[in-house]
Amino acid sequence: MKHLFKKGDNTKPTLLLLHGTGGTEEDLLPLAERIDPEANVLSVRGNISENGLNRFFKRLAEGVFDEEDLVKQTNALHEFLEESSKKYQFDQSNIVAIGYSNGANIAGSLLFHHKQAIKGAILHHPMVPRRGITLPELNDVNVFIGAGHNDPLCTEAESKELAATLESNGAEVTLHWENQGHQLSASEVEAAKEWYKNNF
Ligand code: MLT
Repeated sequence: MKHLFKKGDNTKPTLLLLHGTGGTEEDLLPLAERIDPEANVLSVRGNISENGLNRFFKRLAEGVFDEEDLVKQTNALHEFLEESSKKYQFDQSNIVAIGYSNGANIAGSLLFHHKQAIKGAILHHPMVPRRGITLPELNDVNVFIGAGHNDPLCTEAESKELAATLESNGAEVTLHWENQGHQLSASEVEAAKEWYKNNF
């Protein structure tokens, strides 16, 4: 996968950055700088091109995921994390994902499909990646969800459903609310930073 890696302090988590639709591996670098400027950063570009827009998995329509592709790309990302941890010598059991929108959805999918793929996640405006499957046990996994009361894509109900699903499988979830639609606001980033400081 196309990516960039920035070496940091190996005693800290490695931040896995996952951009939104149409983004690149450069997009979330300022967020990593805000959250933990000393951490390793692995920032990945989505493998799928939708009319030239980078994404992490295919979709059938806005908000309707191609589940087969979602699973395929989630497995590919999981393998990429293992390869990268060897190549760049970071601790695979200490990864915290930071994703926005489509990137938050593939991070959510990692949690739904792979036990201990990530130790924590900051999910900015995620959706429920899949329904009707058994999740792995998520004890010791910490998740921050940044949601919008008025987010037209990730509704209030869906954000609560995601939090409840993760919690019922053992994750510790903080649900933070904003009123800025699907946008990522400075106050949401500050709340994520505070959450990270308290948990890692
Ligand atoms: C998705 O497809 O992951 C969601 O609709 C969010 C987005 O627009 O990327």
